Amino acid sequence: MNILLLGSGGREHALAWAIKKSTLCDTLFVAPGNGGTAAHNVALDAADHGAVVSFCSKNDVELVVIGPEAPLVDGLADTLRDKGITTFGPNAAAAQLEGSKAFTKAVCDEANAPTAGYAAFSNLDAALAHLNKAGAPIVVKADGLAAGKGVTVAEDIASAQAALQDIFADGDGEVVLEDMLVGEEVSLFFLCDGTTALPFGSAQDHKRAGDGDTGPNTGGMGAYSPASVATDAIWSETLEQIVQPTLDILAKRGTPFSGVLYVGLMLTGDGPKLIEYNVRFGDPECQVLMARLESDIVPYLLASARGTLGKMDAPQWSRDVALTVVMAAKGYPGSYEKNTEIQKLTEAEATGAMIFHAGTLIRANRTIAIGGRVLCVTGKGDSVSGAQGQAYAAVDAISWPEGFCRRDIGWREIAREA
Ligand code: AMP
Ligand code: GLY
Repeated sequence: MNILLLGSGGREHALAWAIKKSTLCDTLFVAPGNGGTAAHNVALDAADHGAVVSFCSKNDVELVVIGPEAPLVDGLADTLRDKGITTFGPNAAAAQLEGSKAFTKAVCDEANAPTAGYAAFSNLDAALAHLNKAGAPIVVKADGLAAGKGVTVAEDIASAQAALQDIFADGDGEVVLEDMLVGEEVSLFFLCDGTTALPFGSAQDHKRAGDGDTGPNTGGMGAYSPASVATDAIWSETLEQIVQPTLDILAKRGTPFSGVLYVGLMLTGDGPKLIEYNVRFGDPECQVLMARLESDIVPYLLASARGTLGKMDAPQWSRDVALTVVMAAKGYPGSYEKNTEIQKLTEAEATGAMIFHAGTLIRANRTIAIGGRVLCVTGKGDSVSGAQGQAYAAVDAISWPEGFCRRDIGWREIAREA
């Protein structure tokens, strides 16, 4: 079948690589894609639903895979399904699990799912009054999609006040004030088809820009899979107490969730608690999942889209650990230079590492950096240290003076392995 994949990040290069390996895939189109998917790229704007529909009918596309959250929240999956096109990813109503923090909190209440205590406000004075009562530390979350920038973990009242002023700067806003959870973070992925949830790998991300988890928050500077803290007990508690009740509630409301549910957990002394849901694969978490997935991904994407996940066996994973290091343009997540050239990628891949592209394009056979997060250099090994060694050997072979990366991806697991 012909498959259309939407998105342009490292996540999409990794998905494209996995989909291309499938015996079910004839032609793969990626829109708009990046330098890593150049052979498959088509110019198509996911915000133009009509254009996506007509592309699908002209090119006999039988499966559309939506990578990022924005088109999901925007209802692209609804439009495609209305036209009878098989689509991987949730409809807009269910994508509110990522689109609105207040929505997710209300679902957790109804599901009695473990999460941080909270209060939601759409008025600055009421939020400030609550803050004065609740005190710090406290977590301030702007409602709505914020590309990882909507959350302030405030250690004191003044920074919480500043975050609130910011959210309500132009008069109105929506905010969730949350208790601070303490513990280790881990992400679990579940493929869902409206009623069934199938575990689909674990990972740990590194959100801060600098070594030692310092500096500003980013979309993610590196990840590895599996996460050893995601024990069988954590998987089953998460499925039973959080994920299945969520699916049941959304199905009962007539807005079933299908696609991949990214469950961000804090492992607290009291058991796993939900920090956030995302309604798509993580980036860069997807890169390490795809590096380890041995099963053909396409039957899983189809089963999620068609409601037949219950008939699928658990996927097969490599026993190896995969670890990815994000190379970003110097200055990211702030402002950075574009149109710089990256060299020696072939030498880097000779180490055995895989390089998933993110913010790149190919111009006259040269690889040009055009984004903040630019490359995801992915190593494998029988331990996190081994995978890390392969990834950094490849990083060191790359010539890109305008780029930087963290040098400590995997530090938690490496400390545990030591
Ligand atoms: P989110 O955008 O919801 O993923 O939040 C971004 C980051 O903020 C998370 O990855 C956590 O590190 C942190 N965070 C969010 N909510 C809480 C919480 N209730 N307690 C502690 N940290 C949190
Ligand atoms: N790496 C975090 C995310 O994809 O949301």
